[in-house]
Amino acid sequence: MTLRKVKKMSVYKISFGTPEETVPSKFAPHPLCEVYDGTALFGDKFSFKSTRRGSELSLPVDPSIEIYGFGLQLKRFNHKGTKKYIRPNSDPIKDTGDTHAPVPFFVTNAGFGIYVDTARYATFYCGRELRPTAGEVNISGGSVPDIANADGSTFVDALYAVREGGENNVVTVDIPTASGVDVYYITGENILSVVSQYNMLSGGGCMPPMWGLGCCYRADMRFSESEVLAIARELRMSDIPCDVLGLEPSWQTRTYSSSFVWNTEKFPDPEGMVDKLRKDGFRVNLWEQSFIHPSSPLFSEMLNKSGNYLVWNGLVPDYALESARKTLADYHKTNFVDMGISSFKLDECDSGDYTGGWSFPDHTSFPSGADGEQYHALFGTLYSQAVTASLGPRRTFGQIRNLGSLAASYPYVLYSDLYNHKDFVLGVVNSGFSGLLWAPEVRHAENREDMLRRIETAVFSAETLINACYLRELPWKKHGCTDEVRELLRTRMSLVPYLFSAFYEYHTMGKPPVRALVCDFSEEPESLTCENEYLFGDSMIVAPIISGTSERDVWLPSGEWYDFFTGQKYEGGTHHVTVTHIPVFVRGGTLLPVASPVNYIDRNTCFNITLHAYGSVDGNTSCTLVSDSDETYNATYTVHTVTLSTRGSLSPLYNITGVEIIK
Ligand code: GAL
Repeated sequence: MTLRKVKKMSVYKISFGTPEETVPSKFAPHPLCEVYDGTALFGDKFSFKSTRRGSELSLPVDPSIEIYGFGLQLKRFNHKGTKKYIRPNSDPIKDTGDTHAPVPFFVTNAGFGIYVDTARYATFYCGRELRPTAGEVNISGGSVPDIANADGSTFVDALYAVREGGENNVVTVDIPTASGVDVYYITGENILSVVSQYNMLSGGGCMPPMWGLGCCYRADMRFSESEVLAIARELRMSDIPCDVLGLEPSWQTRTYSSSFVWNTEKFPDPEGMVDKLRKDGFRVNLWEQSFIHPSSPLFSEMLNKSGNYLVWNGLVPDYALESARKTLADYHKTNFVDMGISSFKLDECDSGDYTGGWSFPDHTSFPSGADGEQYHALFGTLYSQAVTASLGPRRTFGQIRNLGSLAASYPYVLYSDLYNHKDFVLGVVNSGFSGLLWAPEVRHAENREDMLRRIETAVFSAETLINACYLRELPWKKHGCTDEVRELLRTRMSLVPYLFSAFYEYHTMGKPPVRALVCDFSEEPESLTCENEYLFGDSMIVAPIISGTSERDVWLPSGEWYDFFTGQKYEGGTHHVTVTHIPVFVRGGTLLPVASPVNYIDRNTCFNITLHAYGSVDGNTSCTLVSDSDETYNATYTVHTVTLSTRGSLSPLYNITGVEIIK
């Protein structure tokens, strides 16, 4: 892994018509890249119309172009030829574009990406044929296929198969209501470079405290204080790594909507509990959602800072107002942060149109001037801004169910109530295209194998999250696989230093720590459709297995790769593998820092690190380890370059003990 500066930031802004007041960039952090005026260079590429519907923006594209992105898409990898409706939704069960975290940004394999700065539910038509102008005749189009196809596909399948468009292919964006929009045209040598620049435009990737990269366990929502302490004790006694213990709704007197007041019947001494947990190495995370119950001390102060509809009888605060963000931040600081709470889980800020209509309607009015549609697109980002501010200078790493545009710097991982493992893997692969992090969280399992397969995916993702919110027991106990789960979670802990360096690159260069293979290897055609594998840091490829099989095809880019668990060597290409563990491969020529696992991370932690040298490494091969001076936003970072011969203490955090050669 090398740290280098992205030399050429090529982000161009082009304005069309009169953009709206309420747009994501208005609330986003400062860009950490230069933004050039792109009107002269790229303005002509687009055609723009302001119509009675709103704005229509078109961009001619080569029909062979591949299109990725649009936020946390759980149903499709490559969006070429499809229609995507960019709308927040808590129940995104179809490939419509709806998602917990929609982002009006896509990236192509043709050296550019486009971010459309709108809080409207825009629709992207990813490759449609324009009618030819007078004089031109377009005679392209498929012939009617044979009814009986040898491969068993039906006549209808063939008829409707996505075909390449003709010469007049365009990507069109339909933006309702707006009479103009700003577009960011981002150029780069490959997908990774375009995505990294989008992340720098967003203020750089987030930099979690190291404990955020350990394991998070969320306890049963029915638990009382003593039960929470008991499960914490059990985690420690059974030697299961855990950094963060999350409390689910019942710590509050009222939830759905929320009171933001401790339920002292269940939790008689919250301060004492947090103290005990902290002493035992746990950070405490609180669940909440931002609909404010009439019994809440926040209610009267938020009354004039909220929209004109209630949700679950609670106010919907307008966090587009600085004063509303401050009210929430001050309250959280005094009541939760000052007692030692380290992070929060911000639930239900996506829209729940199909789950009982529990969110606010699109025509809601908010005092900031935003309407419900716009506020849905901004809710998660603004809500997390307010809560993050309550922590002051302390860095945090929490969970959230909605984020949107320009959100890379927000230290939150997305999660879902959906639970299809295959979709969860696609979430891991896709989230990195749009400045998002996603946790394929583990809850219950069908059987032992399902539990282990899910834990494996969670171990190799941005956050290892066990959400036992409806499970009184440690979820793996009933499947009799505690030893295997412990081993997997220890594997996660052994990779925290490696992952921390990857996050540092996310923070300073915008490079996503977890990303699709097409980001780095788009010149190899197999990568264009490789939707069930991903890079974990720069040097590891992860190819999860879904329960029910122990084999799969794995595509590896050109070069040499080594099975992380067995050391077996592979050449680039497609391999059919049969395994007992998740297929993980390390790039030949890598020096991988592997730590002796610890059960939790605090400021006294010292990682003893063995360097795993894969394939042909020599004195010039290096990797980096990053240490921070403290856990604040003002921390200074030291980047240690480590080579084959490095030994001993690099900083209080790292001690290099030896090398293992894997050939
Ligand atoms: C859901 C959330 C779950 C859990 C649950 C508690 O909305 O997605 O993870 O927190 O609420 O009631």
